[in-house]
Amino acid sequence: MPATSLDQLVSLCKRRGFVFPGSEIYGGLANTWDYGPLGVELKNRVKRQWWKTFVHRRMDMVGVDTSILMNSKVWEASGHVKNFVDPMMECKNCHGRVRGDKLLEEKLGVEAVTVLTIEQLQPMMTAEKVSCPQCGKVDWAVAKKFNMMFETHQGVVQDEAALVYLRPETAQGMFVNFKSILDTIRPRLPFGVAQIGKAFRNEITPGNFTFRTREFEQMEIELFFDPSTTQWEPLFEEWKKMQWDWYTSLGLASEHLRFREHAKEELAFYSKRTIDIEYLFPWGWGELSGLANRTDYDLTQHEKASGQDMRFTDPDDATKKFIPHVLEPTFGCDRSVLTFLLEAYTEETLPNGDTRTVLKLDPKLAPIDVAILPLSKKDNLISKAKELYTKLVHETDLTVQFDITGSIGKRYRRQDEIGTPKCITIDFGTIGEDEAQGTRDTVTIRDRDTLKQERVGIDSLIDRLKTK
Ligand code: GAP
Repeated sequence: MPATSLDQLVSLCKRRGFVFPGSEIYGGLANTWDYGPLGVELKNRVKRQWWKTFVHRRMDMVGVDTSILMNSKVWEASGHVKNFVDPMMECKNCHGRVRGDKLLEEKLGVEAVTVLTIEQLQPMMTAEKVSCPQCGKVDWAVAKKFNMMFETHQGVVQDEAALVYLRPETAQGMFVNFKSILDTIRPRLPFGVAQIGKAFRNEITPGNFTFRTREFEQMEIELFFDPSTTQWEPLFEEWKKMQWDWYTSLGLASEHLRFREHAKEELAFYSKRTIDIEYLFPWGWGELSGLANRTDYDLTQHEKASGQDMRFTDPDDATKKFIPHVLEPTFGCDRSVLTFLLEAYTEETLPNGDTRTVLKLDPKLAPIDVAILPLSKKDNLISKAKELYTKLVHETDLTVQFDITGSIGKRYRRQDEIGTPKCITIDFGTIGEDEAQGTRDTVTIRDRDTLKQERVGIDSLIDRLKTK
C-alpha cells in the first residue's frame, strides 16, 4: 500500500535525510527542496535505471548532456516565447495569483477546461462561484497570459541583447544538436537521443512536495523517424507500453497507474497527439510521464530560424533528404522519485505485535544495499565488521552503511525505514568466540521484507549479495 498521506512521507524524508526543505535556515524558499544523503542516492539510482533501460540497452539510442542556457533564438523558434503560457488570474480582493483553469477544473470536477479561451475564464469562474483559495472571495480580474520561462541576463550588461532563459524543457538541446549528432554517429532511422537534466518553470501554483516545483529534472527522449517508411501509431503504442513497463518493473503497481489522452484543445502547441501516464497520488491522479508526437515541428522551426539545413540524408539514397518526425517520451525525474517513495512507504504490524515503517523500495533503487551491524561495540567485533565493510565497498558496487548506534532492534528499524534490503550482523560467532556453534567466519543476513535471517559464510557473502 502506498503512503496514504503526503505528510507521512514528507516527515520520513526529512527525518531520514531523503529530502529537506530548501534554504531552511533562512526560513526556506517556497516550494524548493534539497535531496539529502539518501535522497541523492535514490535519485541517482532512478536516473541510472532509466539510462540503462533506454540508452545502454538499446542500439538505437545515444545520450547527450546539453546546456541549460541557450541562445534566446532557440526559444523564439521553438514557440516557447509566444506560447509557453498559463492563464493567470488575480483576486481583486487579496491580490493572490492562481491558475484559473486548474481552480475551475477542480470546481467542475473535470480533467481539462482548455476548450475555454483566456477571455472566457473570468466570466466562467464568476458564474461558477469559484472562490479565491487565499481569501475565499469571488472577485476575479480578467485572466492574463503568463509566460513560465525564467529570464536572466548573460554577462555584465543587463539589456535585451543579453537576455537568456533557463530552459523549460531539456528537449530543445536535442533538437539544436541534431545536425552534430548526425555528423558524428551517422545513424539510421529510427534512432533516439536521450538526456537527463534540469528544467525550470515559473509555475503559478507549485506544490504537493516535489510534485510541482519551479526547478526540476526531466529524463527525455527524442525519437527521430521517417514518416514515409515508419507508421507513427504502432511506434507510439510501443513506447507507451515501454514507459508503463519501466515504472511497473521498478515497483509501481499497475492499479496506481493510468493513461490519459490529451483532448485536442489541451495539446501543447507542438503536439499532434499526447498521452500521459498518471499516478494515483494521495491527492488524486497526476501526471508522471508523457508521450507526444511532435511531428517535424521543432526541426522545421529551427531550420527556418537558423537558416541551417536540418534534413536527414537517407544513407541508402543520397537524393532522399527530409526532416524526420519525432516521438517524445518524457519522464519527470523528481516525480518518479516521489512515486517510488510513495509506493514503497508501508506501515505494518509484525507477527510479534510490533509495528514498523518500512520502505519497500525495489532493491535496484534502495539508496543503501547493505547495512553492516556489529552486534556490540566490542573492539574485536568492530574491527571484523570494518574489515567486511572495506571488502564490500572495494570488491563490489554495493552501497554499504556501517551502523553501530543503538540496540540491534533499533538499527534494524532504522534500516527498514530507509529501505535497506539486507542487514548483515557480525556477532561473537563470526569471530569464533562461540566455537561450539561452528559459526566462525559466518554472518547473519536479514531480509527487509521477509525478516528471515540466514547464517552465511563470509567467503560466499559477495556472491550471495550480488545474486540477491
Ligand atoms: N519536453 C516535453 C515536456 O517538457 P511536459 O509534460 O511539460 O513535457 C515532462 O514535462 C515531464 O516533466 C512531466 O511529465 C512531469 O513529470 C515533469 N514536470 C513538468 N513540470 C514539472 C514541475 N513543475 N515540477 C516537477 N516536474 C515537472
